[in-house]
Amino acid sequence: MKAADTKPGQFEDFLPNGDGAELFAKVDALANLLDSTSIDYIGGLGLEVIGPIGPRTLIREPDGETHPVIMLGSNSYLSLTTHPRVVAAAKEACDRYGYGMGAVSLYSGTTDLHRDLERRIAEFYKTEDAIIIPCGYSANVGVISCLCGPGDVIICDAYNHASIFDGCKLSGADVKVYLHRNMKHLERILKSLSDSQAGRLIITDGVFSMDGDIAPLDEIVDLAKRYGARVMVDDAHGVGVVGPTGRGSAEAYGCMDRIDINLGTLSKTPGAVGGYCAGSARLIQYLRFYTRTYFFSTSLPPPVVAGLNEVFKLLIEDAAGREELWHNVQYMRDGLKSLGFDTGNTQSAIIPIMVGDEGKLGRFNNDLRRGGLYTNVVTYPAVRRKECHLRLCVMNSLTKQDMDQALSILGELGKKHGII
Ligand SMILES: Cc1ncc(COP(=O)(O)O)c(C=O)c1O
Repeated sequence: MKAADTKPGQFEDFLPNGDGAELFAKVDALANLLDSTSIDYIGGLGLEVIGPIGPRTLIREPDGETHPVIMLGSNSYLSLTTHPRVVAAAKEACDRYGYGMGAVSLYSGTTDLHRDLERRIAEFYKTEDAIIIPCGYSANVGVISCLCGPGDVIICDAYNHASIFDGCKLSGADVKVYLHRNMKHLERILKSLSDSQAGRLIITDGVFSMDGDIAPLDEIVDLAKRYGARVMVDDAHGVGVVGPTGRGSAEAYGCMDRIDINLGTLSKTPGAVGGYCAGSARLIQYLRFYTRTYFFSTSLPPPVVAGLNEVFKLLIEDAAGREELWHNVQYMRDGLKSLGFDTGNTQSAIIPIMVGDEGKLGRFNNDLRRGGLYTNVVTYPAVRRKECHLRLCVMNSLTKQDMDQALSILGELGKKHGII
């Protein structure tokens, strides 16, 4: 571990590293560093949101100052966190069922609301059944580690979400990683597998959470068929947003019926918390028996589940405001490009602004926030350091005035920090 008082540390300097030191030595080293230096790129830590997330949101800075920001940092792309029908359903369920379950699903943790939600998610994906799991992170960890084990092989896109890699690690399967969206590399890996490795699972994000691009799922399912692999898609950021009726990345690539395992979160577009998996009745039955993060983890609170039932009604009707969202996404993309920003290869409501220098990125982001615009930074270990960037999330409720003001702040500060 580096001496905290000689050099500003980096994220990995404080991880367990087998140096034999007392367990809390790294805890103290990090505390000492943070007491003695201010690190620009973590300047947003310690912020508080005061009130509902909306196009204009009130936040409190770590020093106690309170001010409004234009919100370009929420995954509630369709603003369903505050949708009147959703909020009303949650309130009513709170009165009828109380605010929590106090039990895992298989004990007394499943209400009629939970079953309704599972049926609606299955209807949405046109699958036979679905299972809800307490969060998206634990859905990945639980599903992957119960389906795969030693002797199996999991083949992952390099940019998959951390929870996918954690599930892979826990499973004990052989894990192979292909270059981001690189189908030639994926095929090379599939070709290299031995016949004895018959348990094969390709896992990819649908919409990639950090860059907003989408996995070429039509090609992935073709390769999977050719080489005898199953396909799992985590479409946390695609559900409700991409595809002709908002059914996500597989719909956008015309292959919904060829995905074996549809995994997603209830925390982004659906606006609450939770995870799910949709697929064949047999698969879901198996998961109910063996997914430890389902089996051993308390089920979602009824108000949340009731709100989510309304969300899926809106999504199934395609009445949740997807058109407005895409209008706004296009407006922001065009505006950023005409200002000269590099917005990568986004295909979704996540728009990156490439910066490539963590210090510069942190200072840019802090200035933006103080200037009235909330955005998120994406740094190591989420991406490689030279690929660090700002991550803008567009919501359907942003007005033209909100977006024009946001673009004007970005233009001014982008020039100041030498990004455009
Ligand atoms: C692709 C992806 N999968 C899984 C998760 C975890 O979901 P949750 O926040 O519901 O635990 C996230 C959220 O950060 C994500 O972006």
